[in-house]
Amino acid sequence: MTDMTNPWDDSSLSPDERARLVVAAMTQDEKFSWLAGDIALPFQGHPPVPADALGSAAYYPPVERLGIPGIQQSDASLGVVNPGGIRPGDDATALPSSLLLGATFDVTTARTAGELVGRQARAQGFAVQLAGGANLVREATGGRNFEYVSEDPLLTGRIAGASVSGIQEQGVVSTVKHFTLNAQETGRVMADSHIKEAAHRESDLLAFQLAIEDGRPGSVMPGYNLINGHYASENAHLISDILKGEWGFDGWVMSDWGATHSTEKAALAGLDVQSGANFDPEPYFGEPLRAAVRDGRVPPERIDDMVQRQLRTLFRIGVIDNPPAPGGTVDLVGDNSIAQQVAERGLVLLKNEGDFLPAAVGLGHILVLGRHADVGVLAGGGSSAVTPSGSRIEPSGIDRIWADRVHHPSSPLEAIRAEGGAGQVDFLDGTDHAAAAAAAADADLVVILAEEWRAEGYDMPGVSLPDDQEALIEQVAAVNPHTVVVIESGGPIAVPWARHVPAVIAAFYPGIGGGPAIAGVLFGRVNPSGHLPVTFPKSIDQLPRPDQRDPATTTSNPNQERIGEIFAVDYDIEGSDVGYRWFAREGLVPDFPFGWGLSYTSFAISCLTATAKGTGIRVSCVVTNTGDRAGSAVPQVYASRSTGDSADFVPRLAAFARVHLDAAESRAVELDLDPRLLARWEENESAFRIAGGTYEVRISAHASDEEGPVCTIPLKSAFLP
Ligand code: BGC
Repeated sequence: MTDMTNPWDDSSLSPDERARLVVAAMTQDEKFSWLAGDIALPFQGHPPVPADALGSAAYYPPVERLGIPGIQQSDASLGVVNPGGIRPGDDATALPSSLLLGATFDVTTARTAGELVGRQARAQGFAVQLAGGANLVREATGGRNFEYVSEDPLLTGRIAGASVSGIQEQGVVSTVKHFTLNAQETGRVMADSHIKEAAHRESDLLAFQLAIEDGRPGSVMPGYNLINGHYASENAHLISDILKGEWGFDGWVMSDWGATHSTEKAALAGLDVQSGANFDPEPYFGEPLRAAVRDGRVPPERIDDMVQRQLRTLFRIGVIDNPPAPGGTVDLVGDNSIAQQVAERGLVLLKNEGDFLPAAVGLGHILVLGRHADVGVLAGGGSSAVTPSGSRIEPSGIDRIWADRVHHPSSPLEAIRAEGGAGQVDFLDGTDHAAAAAAAADADLVVILAEEWRAEGYDMPGVSLPDDQEALIEQVAAVNPHTVVVIESGGPIAVPWARHVPAVIAAFYPGIGGGPAIAGVLFGRVNPSGHLPVTFPKSIDQLPRPDQRDPATTTSNPNQERIGEIFAVDYDIEGSDVGYRWFAREGLVPDFPFGWGLSYTSFAISCLTATAKGTGIRVSCVVTNTGDRAGSAVPQVYASRSTGDSADFVPRLAAFARVHLDAAESRAVELDLDPRLLARWEENESAFRIAGGTYEVRISAHASDEEGPVCTIPLKSAFLP
């Protein structure tokens, strides 16, 4: 700004100093106007939405007197949401689900995806994007798994961090959420996640810690659940001691919508903003907080700190100097093609017996089966659902789910027609199994698009494909061995039927470019390179908590009548051994392991060396494409301890890379192992400690791979700073 009117307009001052000057000039009313906000969408029986609100998750009014802009907040990680189409004409790109982003094992792709979201958010007038889903997939059945990256702390932290930093580089603040252990949806507002400190530090907290280090998000959103007996939004140990204290987080903590439960306790625990306040029974951060300040129960400095944290961040990200305004240009064509590329990097080829795929272009007759293969690809339901123009939006038809079922307008059928060059492509929705089998009998290729829908506020009952789709696959495979199954799922599923078909592709929810991305893999334009970010179990019995809560006996959403009591969820069963580590510890064999993914070429890894670097380890290797077409390899480094309490230290992902190689090309790759992945949390010292001894590092193709090159390295006992 050239025309300086206020001292805080001086951009040579630090964001902190500028914020301090604004806070000093604010009245109490101005401060309180930023401490609680309603959802900025019309709801019957709720206060009207302010005229200046664009229509989104939240709106905080400007402080015009001081030149501070209003703040509009939008969901979420997978693109800019336009709830119920409330903002006519605001079209947005629907990115693939975060699980598919996780499957890329590629921080560069994650950053690109984040940049896209930030760019579109800013163009539509949003200063804050409620993105950065960084919960670990602890429950295979979790209804919101598609919004999270993986079951592994390193992969989750790195991918979420890169995507957050991509968003913020566009001048839009991003959150990370839902801090922490918000792993199940059924009963999410009643679930009390129990875990011991050490296990928490080595798992979900580590994922958030890495995401926050890498992405430096402006805001952190605790979830609906309780953690060790305290609601996430008033958990002083997590918010004050760890996040703001140990980790030095200098942004603001906003509650989830309708997830604040107190005034004094929450304010003193470190909560800065009561979001979705009209979903709460009390205006905790309104009049009751003013009263608490007046009575001396909450110090006035805490109020200043709440505002200071917001302003400091908004100055840092550039929102105050250059406020986002609606009506900017969104390059949908360009951005949709980026979304397609993301999907193409993430699609996982699970099975490819006898190199069945890629299918030949120009076959005589292809049959496409699948409920909505003619319409588009499935998206996850809830606050994160992006609905690009042309989406099919239907009520879920499931009790207690408020989310709609969305299909993005990217039809696999059309894409197969366009890319496959087949003489004839027929389509059936597959609900009539006998008709599907009859039509399949003489096809040269059958492609079944299987769907599994998940949504916020509701966990999947079980881990099987729903709606008799397993029977469809088996009946069709029995008459035609040239059958490929493409799974559109919101999380890991059991695939007992996979043994009956030669090829299976996991597409998760692939977003607006899903159709062409799937066709690209089917016909070989795309060489698949995604790797599973979650373990596909054989059955629900293999999971740490096979028993599920009945949605009829518990409340899952805010602003709903409370049914039942708060219930404990025991995460100490698996502790920090989430996902593949649980499977390894228990000696369980899954359908497909974490990290698994095939390619149309082959890779070899050689010349492995490992040297101590600081408190960590540097691994060097040479990756070679030994096949005859270009492709991307994903070397995964798993670390274990070969002495000491090795039984208690199952191999874990300690580094990964994604390397694109032409046919026959070799490349030297160096990977640095974060020492926290080699350490255990020592409760007495409140620090990570590496136990002295011999460590083993193996470069593997997936979590169950014991064939990869391995070397050992001694490490000295050390506490990490
Ligand atoms: C979700 C959050 C979301 C918020 C605002 C909540 O229901 O849990 O992830 O950002 O709503 O829409």
